[in-house]
Amino acid sequence: MCGIVGYIGLKDAYPIVIKGLKRLEYRGYDSAGIALFDGNNLEVTKTKGKVADLERVALEKNSKKGSIGIGHTRWATHGVPNDVNSHPHYSNSEDLVIIHNGIIENYEPLKKELVARGYEFKSDTDTEVLINLIEDVQINEKVSLEKAVQIALNQAIGAYAIAVFDKRQENELIVARLGSPLAIGVGENEFFIASDASPFIEYTSDAIYLEDGEMAKISLKEGVVVSKIKDGVAVDPYIQKLKINLEQIEKGGFDHFMLKEIYEQPHAITDTYRGRLLANEGVIKMAGIDDNIDKFVNAKRIIIVACGTSWHAGLVAEYIFEEFSRIPVEVEYASEFRYRNPIINKDDILIAISQSGETADTMAAIKLAKQRGAFVFGVCNVVGSSISRESHAGAYTHAGPEIGVASTKAFTTQITVLALMALRIAKQKGSIANSQYHYLLHEMEQIPSKVEKVLEQNDAIEKVAEAYKDSDNCLYLGRGFNFPVALEGALKLKEISYIHAEGYPAAEMKHGPIALIDEQMPVVVIATKKGHYEKVVSNIQEIKSRKGKVIGIVTEGDVTVKGLADHVIEVPETLEPFTPLLTTIPLQLLSYHIAVKLGKNVDQPRNLAKSVTVE
Ligand code: G6P
Repeated sequence: MCGIVGYIGLKDAYPIVIKGLKRLEYRGYDSAGIALFDGNNLEVTKTKGKVADLERVALEKNSKKGSIGIGHTRWATHGVPNDVNSHPHYSNSEDLVIIHNGIIENYEPLKKELVARGYEFKSDTDTEVLINLIEDVQINEKVSLEKAVQIALNQAIGAYAIAVFDKRQENELIVARLGSPLAIGVGENEFFIASDASPFIEYTSDAIYLEDGEMAKISLKEGVVVSKIKDGVAVDPYIQKLKINLEQIEKGGFDHFMLKEIYEQPHAITDTYRGRLLANEGVIKMAGIDDNIDKFVNAKRIIIVACGTSWHAGLVAEYIFEEFSRIPVEVEYASEFRYRNPIINKDDILIAISQSGETADTMAAIKLAKQRGAFVFGVCNVVGSSISRESHAGAYTHAGPEIGVASTKAFTTQITVLALMALRIAKQKGSIANSQYHYLLHEMEQIPSKVEKVLEQNDAIEKVAEAYKDSDNCLYLGRGFNFPVALEGALKLKEISYIHAEGYPAAEMKHGPIALIDEQMPVVVIATKKGHYEKVVSNIQEIKSRKGKVIGIVTEGDVTVKGLADHVIEVPETLEPFTPLLTTIPLQLLSYHIAVKLGKNVDQPRNLAKSVTVE
């Protein structure tokens, strides 16, 4: 939610900040703005719309000068997306500016006090309250900007990653974080700040990730000086060497990030099991599990918490864990889990799944579980992310940066990691037959080449998309391991094409959704061999007898469904627990092509954001 970028150095800040904002647009894209300081003037340019709109406005105003700049791309929380509510925000004196990602929850009482003291507000945002609070502290307590930010933040309740600049202290930027990510890029005679490292990866691979509750003063003279927000005590910053490269965060010849990321899946899945899966030796090595194997073997229950697509991966994991590790699994929406009074026992393990590692509800669920004594295991993609750091142990998915808002490769790599975990534990527990274990390990190695084969059907899938792009509704049905895939297929279609879609367990169709079926209604049915195949075939017959249109996702060589369905897309045969890794692919491509044909913004669908750091 919201992307922030900043530069302080000797170069022109404008192109660096603008390019950085474009890389962070996945985080929010309803308005954008930039503040530049050229040694005399502190100028803010901002507008409703995307970073491209901001560039147009900046060109008209000819405001591109300065070697200090901060920029923001917004996903509105307080106040509608318009020019005034866009960031950066000035303080009343216009000496200070701020960019902010997060929410100041107690902004109303703070605002009331400031209004009583004569402050005026142009916007409806919580952020404008914070910058005036900082100004008020500066005036009343006659302290430096750094101290004023520290004092003000101690009065604020909520979540934030902020950057503040004061034109009277022109050589420094103050940044702080609590609950929203903030990385500092350390270059030679230049520093960068950003919500993730992508805006500065082409300039430096040295980064400092601020911890929650830390702030930093950044200046060319003193470098990065980190301290605790609570008491100002100095902290030694840890400079991390980044491993991502520019190519990973660019489109590489594809029209959209989403398509690139769909096509990256064979590689991403291989990266996920690389060094972990030693099929010939019959070994799975996962440090996070190996070090805590007794806890997993003795676990009475696993609770999985996640949101969105990661929650669907959790549902697939439920089937896999229960099948092989024989541990009861509950899968919870993080947002529900944290706001009820969940029963958590000493021998429970909580697995948090999150691509970004920053989702606020998932983070809060972890904190609650930790307070109640559970062991927390994080499955994240973004290395060094908040959830990965807050967990007791974890396993990264190694999918590489996922930029398209609709999650694709994160999903299949999450399933891969969770399947490896389940098999590793099952082997230790002795809850899986040796022969089956070895068979599964060898089969997992075949998955990437089988995903390649599914991708070869892209043209055929595009034709199906053409036939159904004008539908108003769509149903997705699956059973067993493929029930969560039906949910994920429906979510993908909704997210990027705005067509109403619902996923159901196939047998549940007759308890409601069947009433919707008529000749207009496309129904995507996952009908791979083994997974209750005959039952699903009966479901297809029920749909056809009501004149619904069936798109079947079938195993190569299938004859029965081919004879019934309007279209079929074949996937290679694999062991049943791994079918989601194949059946998901055509559903991703189907929604992608439908959205493109409808002219939708595939990578930045309306109202959504990649990383939801608000509750
Ligand atoms: C947002 C994204 C989804 C994602 C969900 C959970 O809604 O648009 O693609 O599945 O957040 O995110 P996480 O990073 O925790 O997996």
